[in-house]
Amino acid sequence: MTTHLLLGQTLTFSDDPFHAPWDEVALVNTSGAVLIEGERILAVGDAAALRAKHPDAEVTDYGRDLITAGFVDAHMHYPQTGIIASWGKQLIDWLNTYTFPEESRFGDKVYADEVAGRTLDLALAHGTTTLTSFCTIHPESVDAFFEAAEARGMAVVAGKTCMDRNAPDSLRDTAQSAYDDSKQLLEHWNGRARARYAITPRFSPTSTPEQLQALGALWAEHPDVLMQTHLSEQPAELIWVEELFPDARDYLDTYETCGLLGENGLFGHSIHLKPREVNRLSDVGAAVVHCPTSNTFIGSGLFDMAGLKERGLPVGLATDTGGGSSFSMLRTMAAAYEIAQLRGDALHPSQLMWLATEGSAHALKAGGEIGHLGAGAAADIVVMDLVSTAAIEQRAVRANDVWDAIFPTIMMGDDRAIRDVWVAGRKVS
Ligand code: GUN
Ligand code: ZN
Repeated sequence: MTTHLLLGQTLTFSDDPFHAPWDEVALVNTSGAVLIEGERILAVGDAAALRAKHPDAEVTDYGRDLITAGFVDAHMHYPQTGIIASWGKQLIDWLNTYTFPEESRFGDKVYADEVAGRTLDLALAHGTTTLTSFCTIHPESVDAFFEAAEARGMAVVAGKTCMDRNAPDSLRDTAQSAYDDSKQLLEHWNGRARARYAITPRFSPTSTPEQLQALGALWAEHPDVLMQTHLSEQPAELIWVEELFPDARDYLDTYETCGLLGENGLFGHSIHLKPREVNRLSDVGAAVVHCPTSNTFIGSGLFDMAGLKERGLPVGLATDTGGGSSFSMLRTMAAAYEIAQLRGDALHPSQLMWLATEGSAHALKAGGEIGHLGAGAAADIVVMDLVSTAAIEQRAVRANDVWDAIFPTIMMGDDRAIRDVWVAGRKVS
């Protein structure tokens, strides 16, 4: 088994910098090293000490580059890759105009294979080593995504998107077929290689209560798998949910009454939450996922990072492509910073980096395994050039400290900042 030693500036976390002082729990070692054996990280420590202890390791010296855990995108839609940056619509119109016609194409396995591979390659080029994706209603779209991820050695989460109303005929399943197909896909893919299945009702407006109940029953049979959906994204959507579910206490209740609220739940967007919804999410330990470029691009609203972190909710960070406008988790961190600023809150660079790695991993209940630069974790690693463009370099050279040197890359960086990506101990770019 080959042992690799990566030298550079390493970023590690001993705790969540939202819950403990960032200068105590986020550590940048300016002469750090990461020791990889096979698919796993064996140790993270000082370069000199690890070099002396492992003289036979294959050394890659990244100099002043920053070595961190690979980025974990906690919510996206790989079938929307081809329609990213489509102009001029808000959520419901955007779904009907751009999204549903594109998603209708994914019954064609050849097309699904091509887009799945393209999306995963784009993610890797941007330093993202785990994607959490909605597929389409077509089982072929799920097979395509998991197969493409397995070929690349990537840890991914995905599921068949279920819809049995308020969608074109070509994109509707039924309560029974959603249950049957999801069950079969779950049993085939969950735990195979690095795949994890997520039961995936798209959102309450496109599922009848019968379908939500059927998927709730499936989750009760497999409580260890993840469940992903959308929650409280846009005001017009909230009004629609009220019309469709007149008896529900609130949006979350449309899921809760059907058995779709639990610790392994991932609720994308979660912007306009009512106090009862926050209480219930917090009671069960479900995760919310912040999709900042999407929330500004589709015009959805300002996620309450400070309030939800204070309540102790696990918060993941995500691109939400193609509603989101970028494949880059750097750009996504920048948008998270900007949205927090609009709410009067300045997120520290360590908090942004936490969200994009450990935060998303904990939301996926995979903390310590992915998104983690530490012994025992999968060796999914990104190496970043902190002076990747002239604009970033002229700012970074004036940095007062290491965080001041990292922040320009968070705010202005893109795939040009990604020097190398390692997936399961193998350099892939
Ligand atoms: N709500 C339901 N479906 C979607 C989707 O595909 N993207 C976004 N951003 N929100 C949704
Ligand atoms: Zn989404």
